[in-house]
Amino acid sequence: MEVHEAIELRRSVRSYLPKPVPPDVLRRVLEAGRLSPSAVNHQPWHFVVVTDPVKRNGLTDGPYAKFLAESPVVIVGLGDKVKSPKWHIVDTTIALQTMVLAATAEGLGTCWIGSFYEDKVRKLLNVPDNLVIVAMLSVGYPREKEESTSRPPRIKNRRPLAEIASYEEFGKPKA
Ligand SMILES: Cc1cc2nc3c(=O)[nH]c(=O)nc-3n(C[C@H](O)[C@H](O)[C@H](O)COP(=O)(O)O)c2cc1C
Repeated sequence: MEVHEAIELRRSVRSYLPKPVPPDVLRRVLEAGRLSPSAVNHQPWHFVVVTDPVKRNGLTDGPYAKFLAESPVVIVGLGDKVKSPKWHIVDTTIALQTMVLAATAEGLGTCWIGSFYEDKVRKLLNVPDNLVIVAMLSVGYPREKEESTSRPPRIKNRRPLAEIASYEEFGKPKA
């Protein structure tokens, strides 16, 4: 799949089929994260892949994270604040979004999750103190037809480009 197509097809998927993600597909998604850029190439990230249903249930405490019980895979993105005090969050975020696009190209649905209680997740997954829990991703095959990532893209609710981009200096529109 061409990258722009994946960018347009991607949408947040919050309902999943009970179909496991094959190991080779999951490996390609993780590989996309591994190959991502990072400041000084520090690669200050770690990804915990959670498939165990009991553990996934333990990740659903946040008010907007209930569907993690149903997504066959949850990827928890951790940033190492010791390895890269300034960029660990940015670098880990880049890697997670690269994985999102790779997953889309594999026909998978994903959703970013910021709705979690850090202490609870840290305890549940045994995360060391040097690692910050940046965000989680649900990953799986979309349940609803309308959530399928193989349909033509719907119109996205986004601010227009003219409002979010300037040229040569802030606030200057395209000539
Ligand atoms: C950092 C971040 C955190 C998010 N947290 C949640 C979340 O906890 N629960 C959820 O259902 N969606 C979450 N989302 C998804 C957004 O609601 C979604 O991306 C946005 O509404 C745009 O819709 P789209 O992804 O379908 O284009 C999050 C997205 C980002 C980037």
